[in-house]
Amino acid sequence: IKKIGVMTSGGDSPGMNAAIRSVVRTCAFYKIECAGIYRGYQGMIEGDFIELNARSVKGIINKGGTFLKSARSKEFMTKEGRQKAYDQLKKANIDAFVVIGGDGSFTGALIFNQEFGFPVMGIPGTIDNDIEGTSHTLGYDTTLNTVVDVIDKIRDTASSHNRLFFVEVMGRDVGHIALNVGVGAGAEEILIPEEDLGLERLLESLRRSKQSGKSSSIVIVAEGDKTGKNVFELKDYVNEHLPEYEVRVSVLGHMQRGGSPSCFDRVLASRMGVSAVESLIDGKSNLMVGLISDKIAVTPLEKAIKGQSKINKELIRVSDIMSV
Ligand code: F6P
Repeated sequence: IKKIGVMTSGGDSPGMNAAIRSVVRTCAFYKIECAGIYRGYQGMIEGDFIELNARSVKGIINKGGTFLKSARSKEFMTKEGRQKAYDQLKKANIDAFVVIGGDGSFTGALIFNQEFGFPVMGIPGTIDNDIEGTSHTLGYDTTLNTVVDVIDKIRDTASSHNRLFFVEVMGRDVGHIALNVGVGAGAEEILIPEEDLGLERLLESLRRSKQSGKSSSIVIVAEGDKTGKNVFELKDYVNEHLPEYEVRVSVLGHMQRGGSPSCFDRVLASRMGVSAVESLIDGKSNLMVGLISDKIAVTPLEKAIKGQSKINKELIRVSDIMSV
């Protein structure tokens, strides 16, 4: 392998820049050329590349977002689009690539490899932590810290006014963020996509907390929670059934994806980048680099895509006990 391409694809996450830096510097270490591919697969199709050396990635380990930009490419989903991408890579003498992204990005890499025999490696970058084969995806830890910090602030105002807050956090399909920040910030209840705890239980829990003299309550709601009600509908529902509560809603939104990566994510990104490049040098392909029991380990992309990391049910129990 003489030249490796690196790109970020899908929703961005803190730590992506640190991972790009690691891929670029590992290439430099092994005296392999490295090209940055702008805007994920769309930039690949358009040949939007930049030559990167060890110094091009200075000062970015602490930066949120991704300097290579990210995109979701519809064109890459077509055979013609992928053919164009392949031609561009060949023209630029790139003979393998590392994609930092989530399951959609990995699916693209896998199809590309099957069609053209092109070596690919994946680094999981998403705040949702919804990928099998790694205990942590890049950005997840940072997001947990960001969200806990914000909920602490919401708690200040909630308790000053004796209010109940519904706080919506990201997590379309999985409740990792909701569960962890819920326990970490001392939420009353946590509503997640994986389990429907029932609205009656929510009312019961809120009744109990009023009786036990709590001055504020926070309920964390994952975007894709199972109750079928969004945070505003939940507010109306509680207003109707428990008029003694003064309810407010806070939707945290995309601020959860921004910010300087935590030390954990920077270290993880650095380790994953090294492993991705070394795997390609060793002639491996179609793998995702992950963290398993604090060791860097690879998982076939196919498995990472099909599986979905499971929530830790112990946290549900811990949360129940803590909100006694
Ligand atoms: O990065 C994953 C995620 O944060 C989901 O939890 C969320 O639903 C989605 O991205 C929103 O992404 P976008 O606004 O970029 O489509």
